[in-house]
Amino acid sequence: MTDAPAPSAVEPFDAVDVIRTKRDRGVLSPEQIDWVIDAYTRGVVAEEQMSALAMAVFLNGMEREEIARWTRAMIASGERMDFGSLSKPTTDKHSTGGVGDKITLPLAPLVASYGVAVPQLSGRGLGHTGGTLDKLEAIPGWRANLSNEEMMRQLEEVGAVICAAGSGLAPADKKLYALRDVTGTVEAIPLIASSIMSKKIAEGTASLILDVKTGAGAFMREESDARELARTMVDLGTDAGVHTVALLTDMSAPLGRTAGNGLEVRESLEVLAGGGPADVVELTCALAREMLEAAGVEDPDVEAALADGRAMDSWRAMIAAQGGDVDAPLPEAKHVEELRAEQDGVVTGLDAMGVGVAAWRLGAGRSRPGEAVQAAAGVEIVAHVGDEVRSGDVLARLHTDTPERIGRAQEAIDGSWSYAAPGTAVPERQIVKDRIA
Ligand code: URA
Repeated sequence: MTDAPAPSAVEPFDAVDVIRTKRDRGVLSPEQIDWVIDAYTRGVVAEEQMSALAMAVFLNGMEREEIARWTRAMIASGERMDFGSLSKPTTDKHSTGGVGDKITLPLAPLVASYGVAVPQLSGRGLGHTGGTLDKLEAIPGWRANLSNEEMMRQLEEVGAVICAAGSGLAPADKKLYALRDVTGTVEAIPLIASSIMSKKIAEGTASLILDVKTGAGAFMREESDARELARTMVDLGTDAGVHTVALLTDMSAPLGRTAGNGLEVRESLEVLAGGGPADVVELTCALAREMLEAAGVEDPDVEAALADGRAMDSWRAMIAAQGGDVDAPLPEAKHVEELRAEQDGVVTGLDAMGVGVAAWRLGAGRSRPGEAVQAAAGVEIVAHVGDEVRSGDVLARLHTDTPERIGRAQEAIDGSWSYAAPGTAVPERQIVKDRIA
């Protein structure tokens, strides 16, 4: 049991009663919710009590009013940012997390190249999904932590900022997310929706585009669950006065051909140079159009901004403003192992989870908060969905600085490719499945 501080005054509720209410499928009152979030943030509700409550929510769910109140209580646990003094409109996007999801990297500078401010407060990877900050830290000199003043200045002068959320923003979520991660309570719609939306509403963006992923590599594997999550978040944002739209997108296979920090930066640079994998370009452009339209830019030709170097100029300014050396070579792994096909065929599927876990085991992710990640580790996919392979062809390259990790990574990725007979036509992958507003 953790040692809870003595309550400073008589507490109006008892944590055990709140837990019992949800355990017995009851509805928590607004007062109970406000109290339990505040008392947890103060350390009066103990970690083991909150973990019991999170499990009760995971098992029994929450009604719409409970989720809205829970979200408001988490916002009230910390500070709120205000971008009202900026001379530009603000827009932001949030992804529920996937494998090879490097979209923020080309997207933020692309949108900023239209004179819109993009305050992208990002996180680090945990488990099989990568974190935007870990990816950008592969760039020599780049700094994730900015003061509020530095962030405001960069938004005004450059437009795009990708940085770590300050500790003052929704501190209740910081504690609760870490607890959920070790208590098997991450994949609960009310908890994911309130976690994401409390941070985004507290951040103060005027508009928000959500990329809600579904498929093998997503927290919500089933499309119906992803749809419900999207609907819940759009309603929470709209009710809080934030223009919120969600795109439901495919995460059955990895996005693009890389999963791992420096490897994903390299691929993002290809997109910013007007090339890159078609799925990454398609999703970047779809999200950019939504963000720009929400910020009042009508009919933007975002493909042209990628092709003519405007987005790349904006990237260089964004990276340099945070100390990054834009011309420095990206780190290369000390060891690269090739995986080869054992049969002829057309690749019909590539399991995102297998690739994500392999990248993580190679050193791209961490198994404990605070652990260092390898900037050059990850998976380079050579044979993706729709590609034709012959037995002996290279399927993927595994990059790591620590070759002893190869065996376990290989166990994770083996069997991730599925095939049909050579010459079989593979239906084109539909990246954006729906739009929910
Ligand atoms: N991202 C978050 O910020 N919170 C969640 O609960 C899941 C994904």
